[in-house]
Amino acid sequence: MYKVGLVYNEPKEQSDAEKALDPRSYRQPAIIADYVEEAFVLRGHQVKRIPVTLNLLQDVKAAGKLDVIFNVCTGINTKQEQANVFALLELTGVPFVGSGLTTQVTALNKASANAVFAAAGVPITEFQTFFTAEDAINSDLRFPMFVKPIHEGSALGITEKSRVNNETELREQVSYVVDNFKQPALVEGYLPGREFSVAILGTIDPEVLPITELEIPDKYGTNVQTVDVKAENGVKRICPANLTAEQSDEIAETALRAYNALQCSELARVDVRLDENEKPNIIEINTMPALEPGYAHYPLMAEKGGYSMSDLVEKLVEEALDAWQLKKVS
Ligand SMILES: Nc1ncnc2c1ncn2[C@@H]1O[C@H](COP(=O)(O)OP(=O)(O)O)[C@@H](O)[C@H]1O
Ligand SMILES: [Mg+2]
Repeated sequence: MYKVGLVYNEPKEQSDAEKALDPRSYRQPAIIADYVEEAFVLRGHQVKRIPVTLNLLQDVKAAGKLDVIFNVCTGINTKQEQANVFALLELTGVPFVGSGLTTQVTALNKASANAVFAAAGVPITEFQTFFTAEDAINSDLRFPMFVKPIHEGSALGITEKSRVNNETELREQVSYVVDNFKQPALVEGYLPGREFSVAILGTIDPEVLPITELEIPDKYGTNVQTVDVKAENGVKRICPANLTAEQSDEIAETALRAYNALQCSELARVDVRLDENEKPNIIEINTMPALEPGYAHYPLMAEKGGYSMSDLVEKLVEEALDAWQLKKVS
């Protein structure tokens, strides 16, 4: 029996503007916390709920002896603070599920993650950070390109205009991102091919769960996951994806290389798209994949891989504790 500290956000009031941009995410950590608690309790584990506040360190201490912390909280005030929570968890001295601070920070900024992938030889497109719409364009970038906020999630800032075909469209879309999302824009080569979501589970010897293909229905008139597609939960998921063994191995191997390059722990979900030569490229890595059964991709792939929600949370804890033992200086 494990004593699990479950760190999560209580749902908070959201303005109408915030809701319009991101209708689900503010409730998600609370919903996920309920599912995770239920999954642990089903197996006889003891769960101590710890709502996140600025007093997290004291609250973890006050929770008494914990074997492990399971964190589903995506930031104390904003999502950009996702890594801050892991920074605090690292200071508690209690093992926790999920990647450590360095990985969280690097993965959150898509340009930093791309730089690590490029250095490790993990396939990605050419990319450039635009701090303003007037920045000079690197000569190695070719149209069409794809423009997105440098650190967002849930398809925020992704529209039908994110794919740009010429310099005018590029500069307009960079302006849109910089002005509305108050952050630099990441410009990448546009990947025209099929899109996949890849769930990875484990730390010392991570496994790739059955791959999901994401298909955007024709009615959206686009083949990327725009904020509208995401808001309506409009994407069609095919799991396991219809792939030859060779294609599937290549995608799995590419996603694992990204996972290892960033030194991820326990779990991550990797977004992959095929380029014009049908070769998998990494779009991004999500180091805190949502775990809401029936809605999020990760639990779907876990289930197809033979892990019920209870199996999954238990496995994540076992992986975290095994990795913790290895890291300990004795
Ligand atoms: N370089 C790219 N080429 C083509 N489509 C892309 C590219 N990068 C992202 N996309 C599309 O935009 C979607 C959202 O991008 P992503 O970086 O995964 O952002 P988020 O963090 O919001 O999920 C992807 O699911 C994919 O459909
Ligand atoms: Mg994504």
